[in-house]
Amino acid sequence: MSVEGRPGATVWFTGLSGSGKSTVARSLQACLGRQGRRTYVLDGDDLREGLNSDLGFSAEDRAENVRRVGEVALLLSRAEHLTLVTVISPYAAGREQVRRRHERSGVEFVEVHVATPLEVCEARDPKGLYRRARAGEIERFTGISDPYEPPVAPEVVLGTTGRTPEDCAAELLAHLAARRLADPEPAGSASRR
Ligand code: ADX
Repeated sequence: MSVEGRPGATVWFTGLSGSGKSTVARSLQACLGRQGRRTYVLDGDDLREGLNSDLGFSAEDRAENVRRVGEVALLLSRAEHLTLVTVISPYAAGREQVRRRHERSGVEFVEVHVATPLEVCEARDPKGLYRRARAGEIERFTGISDPYEPPVAPEVVLGTTGRTPEDCAAELLAHLAARRLADPEPAGSASRR
């Protein structure tokens, strides 16, 4: 148990590139920080620059990517962090393995499907990657030329279309609070800030 009386937990954001995983996670991190919680965001793009720089986007490499990120998350969450993981993690089997690793270790695992439809992600195209994937410049691009297996029973299915990141983060915070992993936000507090 942490000094705040709460254990760590892993909040695992899965979804397409451009679905909003990182943006919502950063907003949630800010909320949790205001509550004095220790948090860490493990972001796929960041990790692929260092820890996972030897990995590409084949099914095997994505599986190894997810396994490694899952192990780091478990270490941080055991050390009383709320660990927010943002990786596409397109394969259900890999996500289930990470969930089971957490369950065996007695660490809570909250799977959040950031369920932004492909059309919306592609229209947003924040990094210009969908355009390049359609042009054939990037191979095996998730949703275009590589699979994405949506979770069957995630703890949260998060719709982002037409919503602000703060609104999405508030929904997740309420979920964490209901599980006693965070404090509830006072009503209306997000809009007052
Ligand atoms: S995962 O599939 O192994 O979970 P991860 O989340 O680490 O992926 O990395 C995805 C990020 O890598 C994307 O947001 C995008 O910026 C970049 N990327 C580069 N090539 C690809 C590709 N072929 N498919 C998906 N993402 C790619």
